[in-house]
Amino acid sequence: MLPTLLIVDDERATREGLRSALEDEFDVYTAGGTAEALKILKSEPIALLLTDLRLGADSGMDLLDAALALPDAPVAVMMTAYGSVDTAVEAMRRGAWHFVTKPLNLDEVEMLLKRAVHSRSVESENRQLTRQVQQSHKIERLIGKSPAMTQVFDLIQQVAPTRATVLIEGESGTGKEVVAHTLHHLSGRPVAKLVMVHCAALSPQLLESELFGHEKGAFTGAAQRRIGRFEQADGGTIFLDEIGEIDASTQVKLLRVLSERTLERVGSNTPIKVDVRVIAATNKSLRALVDAGSFREDLFFRLNVVRIQMPPLRSRREDIVLLANCFLQEFAKDNQRPVKPLSDAALHALLTYAWPGNVRELRTAIEHGVVMSNDPVIDIRHLPQFLLGNATAPGDSAPSAKNNLESPPDFNLHALEANAIGSALAAAKGNRTHAAELLGVSRRTLQRKLKDSPL
Ligand SMILES: Nc1ncnc2c1ncn2[C@@H]1O[C@H](COP(=O)(O)OP(=O)(O)OP(=O)(O)O)[C@@H](O)[C@H]1O
Ligand SMILES: [Mg+2]
Repeated sequence: MLPTLLIVDDERATREGLRSALEDEFDVYTAGGTAEALKILKSEPIALLLTDLRLGADSGMDLLDAALALPDAPVAVMMTAYGSVDTAVEAMRRGAWHFVTKPLNLDEVEMLLKRAVHSRSVESENRQLTRQVQQSHKIERLIGKSPAMTQVFDLIQQVAPTRATVLIEGESGTGKEVVAHTLHHLSGRPVAKLVMVHCAALSPQLLESELFGHEKGAFTGAAQRRIGRFEQADGGTIFLDEIGEIDASTQVKLLRVLSERTLERVGSNTPIKVDVRVIAATNKSLRALVDAGSFREDLFFRLNVVRIQMPPLRSRREDIVLLANCFLQEFAKDNQRPVKPLSDAALHALLTYAWPGNVRELRTAIEHGVVMSNDPVIDIRHLPQFLLGNATAPGDSAPSAKNNLESPPDFNLHALEANAIGSALAAAKGNRTHAAELLGVSRRTLQRKLKDSPL
């Protein structure tokens, strides 16, 4: 069954042109105005809405609001005239999934709509997952709609109820700890039995006794018997954070627990059986540590049963607005302030910044904005200093020295695109196939864009 698509444009030629270009891939409906569009949206199960911003006397923005308020809202893509990216940004803030600029590139429209279909199924899964998580326990929500996060959601759903050891890799601030919590909460193991250990925070000897416990007198200072974290986690989950930091002798003991599910307290020879689900995280590549000789390969294999790779925020920019909106609500509530929208300049800065600190950095930036703004909106000047250099307000003619866009600093789509391509290539270490995947375009499209305007 083809996904349903409603095309709304007041120009008949555009509607029909789009219909004939897209009807092989979509079940196409068309409408020339808001009233007609809403009638179709209410009577047909429309998955995707592609609407022009200007609909004669009607506003596509009003249609967008009305469509998104429906119980089974479609994923909306706005068509805007070239150069009116500020209105496109406004549409995204109101909940549009994406925008395309006219004159339309039909290949790009098709590609975008296909991704939108995918995102719709992800969002409903995402909602389902969030509901399950909330039902089991209140934990921080894992938010995302990008293809990369979809894969993470899929993996979580697949492995959470099993006993498989999970290795979570990713840069700092990408949500590894949130994933560990989510895995535990969906595992069916007792909610309270999640034991967290920061492996980097302890000296080797302390870590060993922290994990496995010790007998009285096992070493100087061991005045009492101590039950280790693995024993405490029996029947539940242990989360070993910064696993790459553990020393050689603890690695050996850990290998034993993972392979035999048995441990011995420090200073004892009595084996103790434990049933513990292990989740480990690292912001380094364990494989690289193995290659460098500082991590045992056999332990790596035991940990790397299922690997969840957390994508950096710069490679999934479509999640930025979603995350920002959630954090806006969270911090407004925490600080008993009204929920304020972000100004265009603020949003532009958020969308173009590289986010080396990933979601954590975004979260802090939004908190800063909520606390600093006494205006009806959160503007760029309310955000942390490092973002100020990243965008210039529309209409502001003085480009900042730190601005990483080379062309005029307003919403120039080519500059935004060049910036995204640059970030994707950097993240993919120059691998074009991987960069194209991150950008959500085909390798050929990326090649063409690079040829048209080499970075
Ligand atoms: N997908 C997400 N949805 C919502 N919040 C997120 C998401 N990812 C991260 N966060 C938030 O960002 C912050 C950092 O996340 P977390 O502590 O899980 O990162 P991390 O990968 O463990 O980082 P580190 O390597 O520095 O320990 C937390 O406040 C977390 O709630
Ligand atoms: Mg962490």
